[in-house]
Amino acid sequence: MRVLSGIQPSGPLHIGNYFGALRQFLALERENDAYYFVADFHALTSVRDPRLLREYTHDVIVTMLALGLDPERATLFVQSDVPETTELAWLLSTVTPMGWLEKCVSYKDKVQQGLPAEHGLFAYPVLQAADILLYDADLVPVGQDQKQHLEITRDVAERFNHVYGGERGVFRLPKPSILETSAVVPGLDGRKMSKSYGNTIDIFDEPAVMRKKVKKIVTDSTPVEAPKNPETCPLFGLFSLFAAAEERALMDQRYRQGGVGYGEVKTRLAELMIAHFEPARQRRAELLANPDHVRAVRSSAAARARATARAVLDRARAACGVG
Ligand code: ADP
Ligand code: TRP
Repeated sequence: MRVLSGIQPSGPLHIGNYFGALRQFLALERENDAYYFVADFHALTSVRDPRLLREYTHDVIVTMLALGLDPERATLFVQSDVPETTELAWLLSTVTPMGWLEKCVSYKDKVQQGLPAEHGLFAYPVLQAADILLYDADLVPVGQDQKQHLEITRDVAERFNHVYGGERGVFRLPKPSILETSAVVPGLDGRKMSKSYGNTIDIFDEPAVMRKKVKKIVTDSTPVEAPKNPETCPLFGLFSLFAAAEERALMDQRYRQGGVGYGEVKTRLAELMIAHFEPARQRRAELLANPDHVRAVRSSAAARARATARAVLDRARAACGVG
């Protein structure tokens, strides 16, 4: 299967990105033809400092490599290295009804959070559809919040196929892959962990910072002896992502019985988290010391990605009669 996904370089990646998206990227690269990219065109809707955008873009590639993505297996590229993307986005936009974009929750959310209501933000899902359709993707691993964008991608593909596709269609219809257990990773305040809420624990936060942030995770005021409900506790939610099955089951039981204090859970969670990312932290230090290697990965991936993209774009151009 062709697997494809992207992540915006709009800041350091956090634990929500890891469990919602990156961990799936790692699992899926083994047995599939995987394409993963840094969505820098998309990030332009929120990052307006060119130096910072370049830095974040480099950092996302480093993070993916440090976590163990194998650039020999997966094509790890940068969106803007494939300019065919924006051309396809235009072709798709000509068959996308305004109403589909108007109902997008993420656009409405971002405007409500204070981002200006610009055309790029509004048309964001069309660019995302181009990202996906340009590589004939079958499966797109993402977190729950991207579900609507995947639906729009399918709708746009079907519409284009209907208008121009004839018998065989132009685009392959992709499916999302959303892991139930980590569809929405909670942040420090109990809401969805997200850069825009300032409630993240970053994958490469220093251990001391991780410990400090874990202490801040919101908990209620249930006393130590009282029984607690693990299902509604964001601290337990995070703990259960890092703990092995046995330890998780035991903690679940202790929550329900009473007798466990939140302080104890936090100390253990911080330990588990730091240990989990330790090997990646070391690889990251090596990669940061070797930017030429990272640049070489980027440019060879760009060549591979462009070759795939060109063929699909040509198919779309021919179907609609341009060129
Ligand atoms: P953010 O909300 O911090 O800006 P992005 O929108 O850049 O994060 O998300 C990148 C990827 O990580 C997407 O696939 C998204 O679904 C996933 N993701 C982000 N936050 C979470 C979360 N809290 N839980 C699960 N997945 C998440
Ligand atoms: N919109 C996605 C996010 O915010 C990033 C993204 C851009 C993406 N293009 C994509 C994800 C294509 C999957 C496939 O997380």
